[in-house]
Amino acid sequence: MIRFGQGWDNHRITAGRPLILGGVTVPCEFGLEGHSDADVLSHAITDAILGAIAAGDIGMHFPDTDPKWKGAGSLQFLKHACDLAAAAGYRIGNVDSTVLLERPKLKDFRLAIRESLARTMGLEVSQVSVKFKTSERVGPVGEGRSAESQAVVCLVRSS
Ligand code: C5P
Ligand code: MG
Repeated sequence: MIRFGQGWDNHRITAGRPLILGGVTVPCEFGLEGHSDADVLSHAITDAILGAIAAGDIGMHFPDTDPKWKGAGSLQFLKHACDLAAAAGYRIGNVDSTVLLERPKLKDFRLAIRESLARTMGLEVSQVSVKFKTSERVGPVGEGRSAESQAVVCLVRSS
């Protein structure tokens, strides 16, 4: 009746790109490198949903070699994973996620990001949790070279 999925993603930090998290553009002098819009949070949540229904991973559905997905908004990947879960007979119970980024401070964007994700997934904001952590100046995240996201979802049998 219940299934769980986890997802993880990381992207390299680079100048001259937007910083998009959960579909929200965070004002910043750097962004994330990637074939799509490099929305590391949406990618982790998408993989968590795909994992919960054992439907492979995001790269299987949206190959980063396909020019069709160049610069693509990642909320459409997330929506697709939700549609697959619904087709498999599951609704999303809740999502919990963490973004690891040394800076900028993201907490002022938490509600906007939760609302954006909830809207995309057809959920209440209360079903979507987004947490932020630095990496305490250690490792690639801590040195400001990358951003990571982790996500866990719970799916509930709907039929
Ligand atoms: O990583 P650390 O535990 O020091 O983070 C403390 C708090 O700072 C987090 O709980 C989060 O609310 C906030 N934070 C943030 N943006 C980040 C990293 C952390 O708002 N990029
Ligand atoms: Mg990614």
